[in-house]
Amino acid sequence: MIIVMGLPGAGKTTVLKGLQTDYKVQNFGDLMFEIEKEKFGIQNRDEMRTIPKEKQTEVQKLVYERLSKEEGKFILDTHCSVNTPKGFLPGVPLEYLKLLKVDYLVLITADVEAVAKRRAEDPTRKRDSDNIGLHDQMNKSFLAAYSAFTGAPAVVIINEQGKVEKAVAKLQALLD
Ligand code: AP5
Repeated sequence: MIIVMGLPGAGKTTVLKGLQTDYKVQNFGDLMFEIEKEKFGIQNRDEMRTIPKEKQTEVQKLVYERLSKEEGKFILDTHCSVNTPKGFLPGVPLEYLKLLKVDYLVLITADVEAVAKRRAEDPTRKRDSDNIGLHDQMNKSFLAAYSAFTGAPAVVIINEQGKVEKAVAKLQALLD
């Protein structure tokens, strides 16, 4: 499996849509949202990172347990760390990372200005507008930790503004 991570609005989902592959794509946010809607009455995806940490980690555990039973090749679209009101929560805690057989750990990122612009131009979401640079630094630190723990290579892909096809080609090269 391949884990694809990055800042909200870095372009993970856009890059994944450009791939030509038989890998199944699992979006962690979708799986969490389904559970949180039912369990906690969450109305939209952007509320998820603001609920109490205990609730987020409870649902995170349920999703990882489900993913650890997944068979066949798949790509997980998720967050390297989640920017909660009370600190950065690891997106892939080591206790769950050890349940997965990871081939590559991929961080999709972009300039702070580009990410801010993409967030501002998306009316469908309520994303944060500050701390983008700090969150990106934290993501790189978490990525290094995940790589050291699993032995899977850490791959950083810059999704430059207006050049999504370059980022797609870099990710595609890992699958071919
Ligand atoms: P989710 O909704 O999946 O997170 P997100 O990062 O906010 O997802 P997006 O799909 O909005 O961002 P993206 O990077 O995929 O960017 P996109 O391709 O859309 O997750 C929701 C929540 O789930 C999280 O907030 C968290 O609470 C929770 N969660 C997830 N994983 C978790 C975990 N492991 N543990 C705990 N909680 C977890 O692109 C954005 C915009 O940019 C688009 O308009 C696009 O057209 C544009 N764009 C993209 N690339 C380019 C480019 N190169 N040039 C110009 N525009 C571009």
